[in-house]
Amino acid sequence: MTTTIAVAGKGGTGKTTVCGMIIRYLTQNGYGPVLAIDADPSSNLNMVLGLPLNDEETVGYIREDMLTQVQTDSNAGVMQGGLISGLTKHDYFDYHIRSIIVEGDDVDLLAMGRPEGPGCYCPANNAMRLILDRISDQYPFVVMDNEAGLEHLSRRTTHNVDHLITVTDLSKRGAIAAKRAADMVDELDIKVGKTHLIVNRVVNGVLPPPLKTFIDSTGVPLLGTIPQDDTLVEFDFSGRPLVELGDDSPVYQTVAEMMKTLTR
Ligand SMILES: Nc1ncnc2c1ncn2[C@@H]1O[C@H](COP(=O)(O)OP(=O)(O)OP(=O)(O)O)[C@@H](O)[C@H]1O
Ligand SMILES: [Mg+2]
Repeated sequence: MTTTIAVAGKGGTGKTTVCGMIIRYLTQNGYGPVLAIDADPSSNLNMVLGLPLNDEETVGYIREDMLTQVQTDSNAGVMQGGLISGLTKHDYFDYHIRSIIVEGDDVDLLAMGRPEGPGCYCPANNAMRLILDRISDQYPFVVMDNEAGLEHLSRRTTHNVDHLITVTDLSKRGAIAAKRAADMVDELDIKVGKTHLIVNRVVNGVLPPPLKTFIDSTGVPLLGTIPQDDTLVEFDFSGRPLVELGDDSPVYQTVAEMMKTLTR
C-alpha cells in the first residue's frame, strides 16, 4: 500500500520546505524508501534534498517524445525500426522514466516538468499515467511538491492522493489560495482522502486572530504551525540542503509532530 502526500499552496509559502521536512521524517523513521515527485516546473526540491537534477530529465520531456512516437505510429500504421524496436512502446517509456529517477539515500526523486498542453494526445497521457502509477506503487510513501495551480493533480498526471496538505504563510492571499486548493478537491479527476492546512512562518506560536477566524471559517482542519526560523535563510544562501537541518530545528520538529499524527 502506497500513501501519497501532496503539498499545495501559494508561491513562496513553504511547500518545498514542508516536502523536504516530511521526506526527512519518513526516511529517518523507517518509512522509506520515499518517492519524491517534483510537480512544480520551477521548483527546487532537489536542492532541498541535496540531489542533483538535470533540467531535461523530466517526465514532460519523455511525454513529448512519447507523443511523437504515438503520432508517428498512427500515421505510419506500424512503427518500424527506430529506437523502440524490440521493446513494446510501454516498456520503452517505462524504462525511460525509471532511468531519469535520481536515487538518493532512501529517497528517489522524479521531476514532472511541464504538464501536458490541452491538445496532448490521450493515449500518450493514459500510458504515462499507468507507468507513473506503477512506479509509485513500489514505494510505501510518495511525497509530491505541487505548483500553486495544481496542474498535475487537476490533469490527473499522478496517483490518487491520501493527504492533500495546503500550506499558507500569515498572508490573507496565502490563506485564500490554500482554501482554493482544498476546494479544488471536488473538481479533481483524482481521489483525495483528507485535506489539511499548515500555517508556516508563525511568530511566537500565535496565529494572528483574523487569520485564525478565516481558517476556522474554511473548515479545513489545521494540521499544525511551523515557526519562522532564520536558520533557513542561512541554509538558503549557503546552498546547504534543508534535509541537513538538525533534529533540534523547530521547523523540522513541528513537521515531525504533524507526521506522527498522519502516520498513526
Ligand atoms: N519557517 C520558515 N522560516 C524561515 N524561512 C522559511 C520558512 N519556510 C520557508 N522559508 C523560506 O522561504 C522561501 C520559500 O520557501 P519554499 O521554497 O519552501 O516555498 P514554496 O512554496 O515551495 O515556493 P515556490 O512556490 O516558489 O516553489 C525559502 O527561501 C525558504 O527557505
Ligand atoms: Mg517550491
